[in-house]
Amino acid sequence: MENQALPNHVAIIMDGNGRWALERGKPRTFGHREGAKTLKKLCRYAFDRGLKYLSVFAFSTENFKRSEEEVSTLMNLFIEYFQKEFDFVKKDHVKVVFSGRRNPLPEKVLSVMDRMMEETKGNDGPVFNICLNYGGQAEIADMTKNISKLVLDGKIDIDKIDETLIQHHLYQDLPPVDFVIRTSGELRISNFMLYQVAYAEFYFPKVYFPDFDEEQFALALLEYQKRNRRFGGVKA
Ligand code: IPE
Ligand code: IPE
Ligand code: MG
Repeated sequence: MENQALPNHVAIIMDGNGRWALERGKPRTFGHREGAKTLKKLCRYAFDRGLKYLSVFAFSTENFKRSEEEVSTLMNLFIEYFQKEFDFVKKDHVKVVFSGRRNPLPEKVLSVMDRMMEETKGNDGPVFNICLNYGGQAEIADMTKNISKLVLDGKIDIDKIDETLIQHHLYQDLPPVDFVIRTSGELRISNFMLYQVAYAEFYFPKVYFPDFDEEQFALALLEYQKRNRRFGGVKA
């Protein structure tokens, strides 16, 4: 039985690329390439189904701890991918936005990110939020700094700081996340959208991200539709 409409905002922690590749006797970076292909299919599927907001965790602030080779392969993959694979954006009038710190992303990555945002900023379709060099705690620290500056400059009265004002000063001002999907069987949040997931439903499929196809996504959405959300109230 379906209780719910589709989630308004879905957030995906795309995990398990490395293990997917290692199990096939390939280098971890091969898994990232496959993951990128999967992401493209999922985007098309999500926007065809009418999802309004899709956030994905592409690279965390902590992922810089990985080998130089893995980090640089990922950065090159972002450049190639954003330049070549985003044709679906036009068809669905998708607005692409990024969340995360710019520093220390390479100039080339930043310039393709900027170009995509610029080219899609007027689009009135779904919003695709790519979290790249993103950390939830870093976002809260950056938001705090920005709001503090506004208070010190006399632009915001300190008593005006509330949950909504905080949301407006995160990297992107998006509605709360309804549904978090983390692939690969790991049961943790790993610093993803800490503020936005306050009342989200969670789903942890065992498959590695490259195998999380349209069928898996459809199952995930069905599971969401069975959940009973209460937001601290009583059961409907
Ligand atoms: C997720 O897959 C992609 C990124 C973090 C960039 P992983 O690379 O974390 O794959 P596993 O978890 O090591 O298998
Ligand atoms: C989270 O996955 C980050 C992304 C999917 C981009 P990780 O693989 O980095 O998380 P941990 O280290 O297992 O917690
Ligand atoms: Mg991982």
